[in-house]
Amino acid sequence: MKEKIDRLKERALAAIADTHIVKALNELKVSFLGKNGEITGLLKGMKDVPPEEKPAIGKLVNGLRAEIEEAIANRERLLKEKETAARLESEAIDVTLPGKAVARGGLHPVELVKNQLIEAFLPFGFDVYEGPEVELDYYNFKQLNIPDDHPARDMQDTFYITDSILLRTQTSAGQIRWMEKEKPPIRILSPGRVYRSDYDATHSPMFHQMEGLVVDKGITLCDLKGVLEEVCKKVFDPGVKTRLRPSYFPFTEPSVEIDVSCSECGGKGCSLCKGTGWIEILGAGMVNRVVLENCGIDPDVYTGFAFGVGLERIAMLKYGIPDIRYLFDNDIRFLKQF
Ligand code: DAH
Repeated sequence: MKEKIDRLKERALAAIADTHIVKALNELKVSFLGKNGEITGLLKGMKDVPPEEKPAIGKLVNGLRAEIEEAIANRERLLKEKETAARLESEAIDVTLPGKAVARGGLHPVELVKNQLIEAFLPFGFDVYEGPEVELDYYNFKQLNIPDDHPARDMQDTFYITDSILLRTQTSAGQIRWMEKEKPPIRILSPGRVYRSDYDATHSPMFHQMEGLVVDKGITLCDLKGVLEEVCKKVFDPGVKTRLRPSYFPFTEPSVEIDVSCSECGGKGCSLCKGTGWIEILGAGMVNRVVLENCGIDPDVYTGFAFGVGLERIAMLKYGIPDIRYLFDNDIRFLKQF
């Protein structure tokens, strides 16, 4: 029996010293100390030991059990420390490595131009109002002094939804919506998408405009000229010149077109300005009496000016974009340049 105990001791201690993971150690623990383990086996064999040897042998078995328990506990501590150290090393983060850069988005050039214009107009006290894109004929045409069958409708090839509902062809519709609701003094900008059945290098079926409207007592064409000159200087460059050219819109009288001096040639004449030295940037005029009356504003008391500017056109001029379609292709190489 004593020999058996010695051999078990030798085997157990060697096996424990030979474990390299906690899981294997736990298995050993069961096989030596468990309910059906070898120590328990030894204790069961005690019944065959002669009575006079029992105390001594019992002491040996208990001593062996304590020794194995201690060896397992020591080994377990050591293995756990090693496992923790290995895990910490494998999960180590090198904070000196360069970070992963996240690509940054930017504003679309049309949005940039819109924001620049709004910022340039803000000091004059303009509010921003956005009307609906699906609009009534009533706001888009009729109230703007463009009755059914008026030849001016030919200037704007319209997407009709029904006879009386359409995709707005001009942000001018916002003027009427605002004037029906608000009384003078009025100073609003109305930016947004507009739609026309047009498609080539300078026309897109969807594009952006920004409308402006000022109505108050004593507003004259000089106010229109002064405000727009200031804004052009801010949006283009401080040296830019502007000029007013007679034009026609049913909702303004008189109507003008505003040109800026060509930034490419400084006014000498080049291919960009088609040799004229001037580039047309927007339509404007004094609000037609009929339009004021349509909205319940007395044209003998109040006068106003209005203008409408194409945002793509300004973006193309400012950034030298040769084809309007670049603005809508969503080509990241193009968009990244702004
Ligand atoms: N709505 C016109 C267009 O789309 C632009 C315009 C011209 C707007 C004169 C105005 C204006 O408010 O007074 O061509």
